[in-house]
Amino acid sequence: MKRYHIHTFGCQMNVRDSELVGGLLEREGYRPAEDIADADVVIINTCTVRVKAEEKAHSLIGRLRALKRARPGITVGVMGCLAQQWGEEFFSKFPHLDFVCGTHALDVIPGMVLRLSHGERRLSETAFRQYPGSLSSWCVPRSPGPTAYVNIMQGCDNFCAYCIVPYVRGRERSRPPGDVIEEVKALAAGGVKEVTLLGQNVNSYGKGLTEKTDFPDLLKRVSAVRGIERIRFTTSHPRDLSESLMNAFVEIDALCEHIHLPFQAGSDSVLRRMRRGYTAEGYLRKIDELRRRVPDISLSTDIIVGFPGERDEDFEKTIDLMGKVRFDNSFSFKYSDRSGTVAASFGDKVDEAVKSERLVFLQSLQRKHTLEKNRQREGMIEEVLVEGPSKGGSEDVTGRTRGNRIVNFRGDDCLRGKTVLVNITRGYAHSLRGEMVQRGEIPLCLSK
Ligand code: 5AD
Ligand code: SF4
Repeated sequence: MKRYHIHTFGCQMNVRDSELVGGLLEREGYRPAEDIADADVVIINTCTVRVKAEEKAHSLIGRLRALKRARPGITVGVMGCLAQQWGEEFFSKFPHLDFVCGTHALDVIPGMVLRLSHGERRLSETAFRQYPGSLSSWCVPRSPGPTAYVNIMQGCDNFCAYCIVPYVRGRERSRPPGDVIEEVKALAAGGVKEVTLLGQNVNSYGKGLTEKTDFPDLLKRVSAVRGIERIRFTTSHPRDLSESLMNAFVEIDALCEHIHLPFQAGSDSVLRRMRRGYTAEGYLRKIDELRRRVPDISLSTDIIVGFPGERDEDFEKTIDLMGKVRFDNSFSFKYSDRSGTVAASFGDKVDEAVKSERLVFLQSLQRKHTLEKNRQREGMIEEVLVEGPSKGGSEDVTGRTRGNRIVNFRGDDCLRGKTVLVNITRGYAHSLRGEMVQRGEIPLCLSK
C-alpha cells in the first residue's frame, strides 16, 4: 500500500488544505504514513506570512534531499502559499523536488503524482483559478473527530500594507451557502459536533455571490443543521465587524462566545500606515459593544511589533490597548518584510534587536493576562466538548470550553465527542484543570 505524509506550516486554512489533499490521495488508495521516512509521497504545505515561516519550510525541504537520495522512487512536492509565490523557482533552489502546486489547484495533486509515477518530471501548477465550488465537500468524512474546519471563502481583498496573503491566495471568493451547508450536514452525519468556519475575513462573506446572503445569515443556517452543537469562526477584521454579527452571539445558541479579532497595533499612525481602516479608539469601541452584549466573551488577537516607523511611543500604545482589553490570548510577531507588499518599500525599518525586545515584553504581559483570565475561571462550571485523550496524563481527556480554553480532566476516552460539565479547579498559563460534574457515577452530558 502506498503511503503519504503532508507536513503543514501556517494557519488553519493550510491545515484544512492539507486535509483536503490527504482526502484526495486517500481516494486514490493512499494511506497516511506514520512518519515522513515511511512515505511514498511527501508534501510540504508551506506558509509565507512571515520570514520565519518561510525559513522553516526551506529548512525542511532542504532536509528532504537526503531522503530523496536514499529512496529516489518517492515523490516530493510543495504546496501552499510559498509554492504559489515562488512557482518553478523552487526547482532551481531545490532540484530534488518533483512538483510545486499553488494555492488554487489542490485538486490536481493526485494527477500530478500519477504523472510523475509514469516518468514525467518537475511538474508545476500555480495559475490562479476559481476553486471548483464543491471541492471542499469531496473529502468528507475526513479525519474522525468531533471538530472540523469548513472553508467558507478563499482569498482576501484587504491589502493590509504588511500582508502577503492577497498575493498568494488571490482575490476574495465566497463559497455558495448551499455548498457550505451540504458540507456541514455531511460532517454532522459523520459525528462532528463543532465546526470552525474559515476565511481570511469572514465578515465580508457573501460578496459577489448570486444569492443575496451575509455572514450572520450563514451562521444561522449552519446552526440549524441538526447535530451541530457549536460554531466558531476565524478570522474577522475589526473594521467590518458588524452589529448583526455582534448580535449573532446573543441570538445563536450554538455560536461560541469567542472571537479572534486581530488589532495589530495600538498606535493610530501605525494603523494608518498598515492600512487597517480603524483607529485604536474604534477598536476599543467594538470590544465594548461586544462585551455589552456578551460580558463573558473570550477575546484573542494578533499583534505585530516593529512595523516600519514604529517608535517607542507607538509601541507603548499597543501595550496600553492590551491593558485596556486584557485579551484571553494573543499571537504576536515581529514585523518582517514580505516582498511585493506596500510596507516592504517603506523606509524607517525598526532594528531587529528593538523588535525582539518589544516582543519579549509584550509576550510576558500577555502571559500574565492569560494566567489571570484562566485563574478567574476557577470555581466555574464550564461546558467542555471532549476531543480525546489528553497529551499529558494517561487517564485524562482534553477538550475546549465555549470560550476556546483547553481543559484537562480525569475521564474516559468514551467521552470523546460528548459535551460534559466540568468544574474548573485550576487555571494555568496555557490550560485549565477541572473535574467532571457527575450525578453518582454518571457524567452530566449535554450532548444530544
Ligand atoms: N510581518 C509580521 N507579521 C505579519 N502578519 C502578517 N503579515 C506579517 C508580516 N509581514 C501577522 C498578522 C496577521 C497574522 C496572521 O500574521 O498579525 O494577523
Ligand atoms: Fe501562511 Fe497566510 Fe498562507 Fe495561512 S494564508 S498559510 S498564514 S501565508
